[in-house]
Amino acid sequence: TPAAVVLGIESSCDDTGVAVVASDGRVLGEAIATQAHVHAQWGGVVPNLARDAHAAAIDRTVDAALAAAGLEPRQLTAVAVTIGPGLGLCLRVGVAKARQLARQYGIPLVSVHHMEAHALVSRLPPAAAAAAPPAVRMAATLMTAAAAAATCESAAVAAGIDTAAVRDDISNFAAVPFPFLCLLVSGGHNLLVLVRGVGKYVQLGTTVDDALGEAYDKVARLLNLELRPHGGAALEALAREGDPGAFRFAVPMRKHATCDFSFAGLKTNTRLAIEQHLDPQRTSWMTPDQVNKLQVKADIAASFQFVAVTHLTEKTRRGVGWARELVPELRHLVVAGGVACNQVVRKSLQQLAESEGLELVLPPARWCTDNGVMVAWAGIERLAQGWAEPPPPPPPPPSLS
Ligand code: KG4
Ligand code: ZN
Repeated sequence: TPAAVVLGIESSCDDTGVAVVASDGRVLGEAIATQAHVHAQWGGVVPNLARDAHAAAIDRTVDAALAAAGLEPRQLTAVAVTIGPGLGLCLRVGVAKARQLARQYGIPLVSVHHMEAHALVSRLPPAAAAAAPPAVRMAATLMTAAAAAATCESAAVAAGIDTAAVRDDISNFAAVPFPFLCLLVSGGHNLLVLVRGVGKYVQLGTTVDDALGEAYDKVARLLNLELRPHGGAALEALAREGDPGAFRFAVPMRKHATCDFSFAGLKTNTRLAIEQHLDPQRTSWMTPDQVNKLQVKADIAASFQFVAVTHLTEKTRRGVGWARELVPELRHLVVAGGVACNQVVRKSLQQLAESEGLELVLPPARWCTDNGVMVAWAGIERLAQGWAEPPPPPPPPPSLS
């Protein structure tokens, strides 16, 4: 039996993700409620609608993950929850549920940073994905909730959790040892981080404007692509039909000797190309279907992607050099976050890793976009350090006055 079984809750953006994961790396049950359909018509995530959809889905999603794991809540060792960064309204829904579970079952609460969860899920062994039951997928609908979290250390031991045994479980199977270089590319973040251990992060680079996933989403919208489940995925599919050399957009930040990223200029150049070549006045005599089949549309998509990935790879290459100055023994490059699902991104970073003598590690696609497994897993890693807070006290009795 594993030393710990943790339920993780993720609600920072537009997915309510819940999973039950054991400290020996087994994913016991997973459920996810997506709300892409709630936001698709608005062209972006609307925070108060997202909050309502999380509130309506959270109980069902927790129940579904526990049912998939065949566990009762009282069998859990701890509850982990994303406390940020993300949309405050949405984070509160997950935090309130986590606090309620911790209070009700008397188990510790582990606060997890969203990007830490994206980074650490790479340590789950590949076998975990193969053996994990399929995620229970649901559509979120609308309704409401509230609360917030503070962090304090080391309630795990007080709760009788054997943190050394949890550490043993982890060290027996972790797919990637520390330290590793991690490129995190999602809709909200574009970070290059040297991960020296749990909670020991050195940020080497970030975006000076947009994140790559955000740029993919914006260009997908300008090209009228399907935004569900992700504009990025639709853009990648269209780009497969196009010529990446058709438009020679400038590669960003070449004059900056940093590991920072920038996608706003590329996005603007892509928008200008779209306005010039897909001007509604010039295409008004065509049916929407004919417009969609225009070669120039695919060429723009492919050219945008080519330059974006070139930039991503160039800065990551410099980051490898920087990281090696701090840790010459560096052996692994991890790429995580929603954009890590992209095959062109994967291939380019695979080539980089090979030429730098590093091993590329990519979490399975289902755990690259937001999910509960990464939060549960980051919770286990933190628990192993003794970093947890005691279950919150019960609410005061109602006042008699
Ligand atoms: O990590 P994630 O689920 O949420 C955030 O934390 O932001 O990442 C979502 C982002 C979206 O911007 C989405 O367009 C992008 O990841 N994405 C992709 C692909 N699949 C998802 N971008 C490019 N190519 C893909 N195949
Ligand atoms: Zn994310």
